[in-house]
Amino acid sequence: MSKALSRNVWAQSAAALALAAAGVSAQAQSTPVKIGLMLPSSGTFADLGKGVSNGFKLYVNEQGGKLGGRAVEYLAVDDESDPSKANENANKLVKRDKVDLLVGTIHSGVASTMAKVARETNTLLIVPNAGAGEITGSMCSPNVFRSSFSNWQPGYASGLLAAKKHKTAVTISWKYAAGDESVRGFREGFEKGGGKVVKDLTLPFPGVEFQPLLTELASIKPEAAYAFVAGAAQVKFVKDYAAAGLKTSIPLYGAFLTEGTLAAQGDAASGMQTALHYADGLKNPKNDAFIASYTKAFGAKPDVFAVQGYDAAQLYDAGMRAVKGDTKKKAEMIKAMENAKLDSPRGPLSFSKSHNPVQDYYVRVARGNQNVMTDVIVKGLVDPSPDCKL
Ligand code: BEZ
Repeated sequence: MSKALSRNVWAQSAAALALAAAGVSAQAQSTPVKIGLMLPSSGTFADLGKGVSNGFKLYVNEQGGKLGGRAVEYLAVDDESDPSKANENANKLVKRDKVDLLVGTIHSGVASTMAKVARETNTLLIVPNAGAGEITGSMCSPNVFRSSFSNWQPGYASGLLAAKKHKTAVTISWKYAAGDESVRGFREGFEKGGGKVVKDLTLPFPGVEFQPLLTELASIKPEAAYAFVAGAAQVKFVKDYAAAGLKTSIPLYGAFLTEGTLAAQGDAASGMQTALHYADGLKNPKNDAFIASYTKAFGAKPDVFAVQGYDAAQLYDAGMRAVKGDTKKKAEMIKAMENAKLDSPRGPLSFSKSHNPVQDYYVRVARGNQNVMTDVIVKGLVDPSPDCKL
């Protein structure tokens, strides 16, 4: 070996030793960590996907663009909220692009397929919205986390809220996992508070033909109604509800019904009460800073979907920091994520044994463009997840 070559080899090993001593692997230094964002950028949930993606990227930017010492590369797929394309889309990111982390999605049916793919390939998955119960229930898995809610949680909190004033209710929901589970949660909360759900009305996702259901609702004359429709469709729903003259005669409850859409819903939504794990006017230092930096970065106020995306990134960072960017140390990453206590804009956030958020639920009332927090309806709500054996 020439003198120059041996000097070079020596210098390289010294550098590797120095990095190892600093606890940073050579891999961590050289290659970006790949994050697959599988979210809708078209269809009724497009704005929700945007909120999640913005929130996630905001957190990463606040860390100087690095997690666990590694730069971040994003690979994005529009999942179109279409369950029939979910397997192919998730496999594109996992098998073709070889992402280190899969993040997605909004729609429960699509997210359940993502969870299956994540489980089969042992890919780390963080679900930043979709509430399908099975993801942190019967299908729960060490490598799957959620930074949002199970559909049962906001439904249950809304049921408790409605039961404070009413004895009978009718539900209206999209007929798919999120609608069914949200209504189940509402029923449980409402009955716990002494109420009775007298009828469940449904329509197919992502339908917006609400009129026949509103006519039936009016004929049943319950004291209250609970609805699960979301995204762009909730604007039409709340407007149709008011136009049908039901706003004052049958008070309408919902968890997401006014989230991020008050400007478009206008007077039709004013005064509506909702229960959710985020609210306008929530006072904590993290939320103040989050609102300021989100507004500066994107020129719009954040909503719950942005918070869930931000916290998905915070949760991943807890794992990345623990292993100093060495994603091969998956068991160590998972342990750190399980034990994470996040300072979330929504308030303190920890995770249940099944990897689902444990969080407070707030009462909000729609005033102008704000879902103003007026109370806490449940503190530290845990999804029971009896079928999860972790
Ligand atoms: C879901 O499909 O799980 C969902 C979609 C939009 C808002 C909330 C839940």
